[in-house]
Amino acid sequence: MSRTEPTRFVRPFLKWAGNKYRVLKHILPELPAGECLVEPFAGSCAVFLNTDFPRYLINDVNPDLIQLYRQLQKEGEPFIRYAQRLFTPRNNCEERYYQLRDRFNTTTNRREKAALFIYLNRHCYNGLCRYNRSHRFNVPFGRYKRPYFPGKEMRIFHAKAKRAEFVCRDFREIMEMAPAGGIIYADPPYIPLNETAHFTRYSSEEFNLEGQKDLAEHASRAARRGVPVLISNHDTPFARQIYREAELLHFQVQRSISCNGKRRNEVAELLALYRAAD
Ligand SMILES: C[S@@+](CC[C@H](N)C(=O)[O-])C[C@H]1O[C@@H](n2cnc3c(N)ncnc32)[C@H](O)[C@@H]1O
Repeated sequence: MSRTEPTRFVRPFLKWAGNKYRVLKHILPELPAGECLVEPFAGSCAVFLNTDFPRYLINDVNPDLIQLYRQLQKEGEPFIRYAQRLFTPRNNCEERYYQLRDRFNTTTNRREKAALFIYLNRHCYNGLCRYNRSHRFNVPFGRYKRPYFPGKEMRIFHAKAKRAEFVCRDFREIMEMAPAGGIIYADPPYIPLNETAHFTRYSSEEFNLEGQKDLAEHASRAARRGVPVLISNHDTPFARQIYREAELLHFQVQRSISCNGKRRNEVAELLALYRAAD
């Protein structure tokens, strides 16, 4: 474990680009209180797992991710044991990886697809989640010595999921559905730091700058009807412009931002808080 590794937080069971596990200490103190935490961009659920709200509305536009969460929520232990069976030395080679990736892309069995999603997440290159335009998962083999099966983390998720409803919609619908007494934590795909840093494709849909502006508008609207919103993003001039109605907080993060995951840089992150209108 590296010296910078946080130990007091619950770790998500999936690897996820842009996950907020390492910056929870900045985010959690800024979350307003409420009856229900709404996460329109749930990803690996780092915030869900590390908060204690009575209820949760957990959304992501990625249907494979949400189906996995629902399967784990419904079944718990039997599903965990079923998924673990894919983590064998025999399945940790290029040939088997591409066979199982094909199986993931063609099966109509939801349980099998959910288990294969975990297998791919831990065996593919950098734990990326990327699809082509036909919604086929297309990340290459990752060459890990002994991929970790996150059984312990899945059990924690299963226990927490009793308080959650998992949905798969566009963020705009979810923000409009947020109930009175709820609060929204929105963690969209990052605004690019520069023109070439485009790695925001988590589903077969792109998330573009229009999406970022729409999010700011929906946040402002939700706050006006009494639902506060906290948004995470890169700290860029564009972000400061679209979040100009919010209170802004910024902090620095150590991130690997290059394609090979080796180059590390300090990146400025922003939290935009839209307080509820009285
Ligand atoms: C930065 S990640 C969220 C990371 C998450 N907070 C975590 O800790 O793992 C952004 C997420 O937004 C989802 N997403 C992209 N476009 C979306 C949309 N239009 N509506 C809802 N979710 C979307 C992606 O699938 C991805 O999981």
